[in-house]
Amino acid sequence: MAEGPIAPLNPSARILMGPGPSMVPPRVYKALTTPLLGYGDPAFHRIMDDLRGLMRFVFNTKNELTFPVSGTGSAGMQTAVCNSLEPGDHIVVCINGFFGLRIADMAARLGADVTRVEAEWGGTIDPAKVKAALDAKPRTKAVAIVHAETSTGVLHPMADIAQLARQYGALLIVDTVTSLGGCPVEVDAWDADFVYSGTQKCINVPPGLSPITVSARGQEALAARKSPVVDWYLDLSLIRGYWDGRVYHHTPPTSMIYALYEGLSIIVEEGLEARYQRHTTNAQALHAGLEAMGLQLLVKPELRLPSLTTVRIPEGVDDAKVRGALLNVHNLEIGGSVGALAGKCWRIGLMGYGSTPQNVFGLLSSLNIVLNQQGFRADGPAALGAAARVLGG
Ligand SMILES: Cc1ncc(COP(=O)(O)O)c(C=O)c1O
Repeated sequence: MAEGPIAPLNPSARILMGPGPSMVPPRVYKALTTPLLGYGDPAFHRIMDDLRGLMRFVFNTKNELTFPVSGTGSAGMQTAVCNSLEPGDHIVVCINGFFGLRIADMAARLGADVTRVEAEWGGTIDPAKVKAALDAKPRTKAVAIVHAETSTGVLHPMADIAQLARQYGALLIVDTVTSLGGCPVEVDAWDADFVYSGTQKCINVPPGLSPITVSARGQEALAARKSPVVDWYLDLSLIRGYWDGRVYHHTPPTSMIYALYEGLSIIVEEGLEARYQRHTTNAQALHAGLEAMGLQLLVKPELRLPSLTTVRIPEGVDDAKVRGALLNVHNLEIGGSVGALAGKCWRIGLMGYGSTPQNVFGLLSSLNIVLNQQGFRADGPAALGAAARVLGG
């Protein structure tokens, strides 16, 4: 522990425009202070049931097995991997960024036979390579893909990969951590089997829960398992005993369940189409502004993820100094990059409640000031003008 008296807990209220956590609306903060109910209280059970309905709405699914798993997005990932696979099962993992690598790592750790189908970071997976991997091992148990790669800012087209999974009778696992609530996530239309997300991106709820939904086919796979799920805490068949049958498994994180309930209610009130459109428009304004400023984006326009933009760090500009000045002087967080893009890109989030024209203009203004201080001749007026043209200002 540091020397001296303990400092009061009083962090600055940052403008969070990194890869997550995202800005939390006042209504969600308020929901976190709602009085606790016991896990056996019928009033809490009613909240649980309604929450599942809200989750089906944002996931665009009728899947009965839909509930939040306790833990951050990685818990959802681990749940999908460890429930769908048994040791020795073959999985094809699509890897075009950091989170695809993580799925492959999790699958390998539980003893699965993993085929990695890779693409450059910032690009998408070639479906022909997935087909080749499936042809090589026709009894493949699952195909996994990250819909929204937060490490690169790519929104992956789903149709071809989903169609291949169906054609080869493999379960389809989809990571929607950074897409759910920000752009269309069509679980039923994709015919996907294990789809998980996180609370801390476009749903604007603190990190701590991972919404997951499982198809009827996925449930059949659970029932047909020969071995128990290795992770007791993430065993969907045990957890559903509580969500369906009210049988104690572990004490649910009550306050986070309230927060998710409120975060999803806000999405329902806004409407999915309006919300997607808002994300698209604000992202386009940000992209136009950054390019007019003189910066380059990593991802080509048709693959860009509206909730997360990757900007190349210009030659000679100090990554840490720029992010430090934004944080310490402008009170604004953007992200650095990880893995193959570490030191090469910044990551700017416009997620849910944080996807606003104010944040677009604020980011462009602050970045312009900081870049010019660092010796890069950024064109601030052009940036703001370009963004304003998209936003109709
Ligand atoms: C696409 C994706 N998957 C999984 C995760 C893991 O989520 P968490 O960090 O909440 O465990 C993240 C986190 O950023 C993510 O962006």
